[in-house]
Amino acid sequence: MTTPTELDLTDATAFVRHDAYEFWRDVRKHRPVYWHEGNPGFWVVARHADVLSCYADVRSLSSARGTVLDVLLSGGDSAGGKMLAVTDRPRHRELRNLMLRAFSPRVLGAVEEKVWERTSRLIKTVARQGEFDFAAEVAEHIPMNTICDLLSIPEADREKLLRWNKLALSSDDAESDRLDSLEARNEIIGYFMDLARHRRGDPGDDVISMIATAEAGGRPLTLEEVALNCYSLVLGGDESSRVSAICAVKTFAEHPAQWRALREGSAAIDTAVEEVLRWATPAMHFARTATRDMRIGGRQVRAGDIVTLWNTSANNDEEVFDQPRRFDPTRSPNKHLSFGHGPHFCVGAFLGRAELRALLSALTESVAEIEVCGRPAPIYSNFLNGYASLPVAFR
Ligand code: HEM
Repeated sequence: MTTPTELDLTDATAFVRHDAYEFWRDVRKHRPVYWHEGNPGFWVVARHADVLSCYADVRSLSSARGTVLDVLLSGGDSAGGKMLAVTDRPRHRELRNLMLRAFSPRVLGAVEEKVWERTSRLIKTVARQGEFDFAAEVAEHIPMNTICDLLSIPEADREKLLRWNKLALSSDDAESDRLDSLEARNEIIGYFMDLARHRRGDPGDDVISMIATAEAGGRPLTLEEVALNCYSLVLGGDESSRVSAICAVKTFAEHPAQWRALREGSAAIDTAVEEVLRWATPAMHFARTATRDMRIGGRQVRAGDIVTLWNTSANNDEEVFDQPRRFDPTRSPNKHLSFGHGPHFCVGAFLGRAELRALLSALTESVAEIEVCGRPAPIYSNFLNGYASLPVAFR
C-alpha cells in the first residue's frame, strides 16, 4: 500500500488503495487545515483540537445544507431543517428534545436486553460452525434489528431495509453508481412515510408512534419530517454499529495478546469498547458549511465554504493519543470523536456502546481464539470506514 502526499478525499476508492493513516499524520504535521481543490473545493480539518472546536461552533458552522461531503458536493441535502442531523438551532433543539424523549431509559433498557439476548444467541450459534462470514452471519443482524425493535418495524420488512441501507451511504462495489444510492434513500423515506401515516392513525408503544404523535416547537411533525427522522435513526443506527462490530472482531483477531487480556480480565470491556470505537472510527468525516467568515487553525474560511472534519485523523492525533496506531483496549482516558461532539453528539451513542459491550462480552465467554481466514472485503466510501465481509473462524 502506498502513502501518497496528496489524497483525493472525494474518491471512494482512495481509502482502500492507500495508507490513509500515514497521509493524515503528514497532514496534521504540515498543513492541519488545508483547502482541497475541486469543484467546489472544501476545507479539510485534521487536528483533534480543531475538529473538536468546529463541532462545538454551531453558530459559525451549519449542518443544514448537509453533513456528508458527497451530499454537499452534489448540491446539498433536501432534508435540511427537517431531519435532526441536518438542522440548525433553534429547530435542532426542538427536534432533539423530541427524539431524546423517544429514547427514554425504559425504552432503551428493554432494547438493550434484546441486544444481549440476540448477540449471545448468534455468537453461540456461530462458535459451533467452522469458517463463516462474521458480517453476514452476525454483524448484519444486531444493529439493524436493534433499531427495528426500537421502531417496531415488522420482521418481514427488515431485510429490504438493510439492503437499501447498505446502498444508501456506501458501496461494497468500487464501480457502484451514485444513482443506486439516491434510489435507495428514496425507497427508505417512502417506506417510512407509509408507516408514519399508519401509526399516526393507530399509535402503538414505539418510537415511530411517539414521533408521529408528539409536538416539536408547538406543532406536530409533518409526515415527511417523521419519515426523515426515522430514516436518520436507521441510517445512523445500522451502518456505523455494523462496521464497528466487524472492526472489533477483525482487530482482536489481529491482536491476540489484547484478546487474551480481555478474556482474562486485565483489560475491561468498557475501555475496550472505547478503543474499538477509536480504532474503527466508523464515520470518517462529518461536514459543515460556514455561515460567516471565520478562522480555523489560523486559516481564513469564508462564509459559504464547505468545512470537513476528519474524525479518522483526530482519533489518531498524537497530541491527544499516546502511540495512536497501537491498539490498546486499556487506553484511558480515550477522548475519541467517533460519536462527534457538541450539540449534534450522536443520539444513539448509548445503543452503539451497548451493542459493542454485548458483542465483546458474548465473545469473551465463548471464543478463545479468533482467526481471520480469508480476505475481508473493504467498503468503498469516503464516509464509512470498514469492511463489508469478514471470513473468520472462532475456536
Ligand atoms: C449523530 C456516529 C450509532 C443516530 C452522530 C454523529 C456521529 C455519529 C459522529 C455526529 C454527526 C454530526 O455532528 O454531524 C455514530 C457511531 C455509531 C452511531 C460511530 C455507532 C458505533 C448510532 C445509533 C443511532 C444513531 C445506534 C440511532 C439509534 C444518530 C443521529 C444523529 C447521530 C440521529 C444526529 C444527532 C444530531 O444531529 O443531533 N452519530 N453513531 N447513531 N447519530 Fe450516531
